Amino acid sequence: MFLVGFMGAGKSSVGVALARMLGWPFEDLDQRIEARTKRSIEQIFRDSGEAEFRRLEHAALQELLSGGIGRRVVALGGGAFIQPENAALLGQDGLRTVFLDAPVDELYRRSNQEGVQRPLRQDKAQFERLYHARRPQYLKAGLHIATAEKTIEAVAERIVQELNLG
Ligand code: S3P
Repeated sequence: MFLVGFMGAGKSSVGVALARMLGWPFEDLDQRIEARTKRSIEQIFRDSGEAEFRRLEHAALQELLSGGIGRRVVALGGGAFIQPENAALLGQDGLRTVFLDAPVDELYRRSNQEGVQRPLRQDKAQFERLYHARRPQYLKAGLHIATAEKTIEAVAERIVQELNLG
């Protein structure tokens, strides 16, 4: 199962909780990119730019999928599902995509608190524009979960229920 959504949506924290609930392994696509390149996401953006990051992200997703779909929870980076070549891979039969959403103000706040460097999190107006531009694509995920005012565990439980995995 693939968790998609904007920066600050809680993809990694919900993913860890969900994986624990299901007894499935958890993987974070950004961490796979960092491990493959031995560079942080921030370094990749700074030294090589976004286009190179997107190439690495697509390659990492292809590699991940080549290991079989199986029972695992994968948190994608906020832009991964937006790239048409990735959305095409994730649209294959049997793959489940879950969009975690929240009001953009909350996403902006959360994406700062998590303490992760996010090259595409700049000022609030830019953050909002990017969120609104991307949201129609996120809505193409198989399941849509509103996370506002829910705990991480409650969001994970909701996904288990909605997908009949309990
Ligand atoms: C990005 C989101 C980040 C990371 C990279 C680009 C984006 O992941 O992949 O900085 O394009 O929204 P998170 O959503 O985990 O912050």
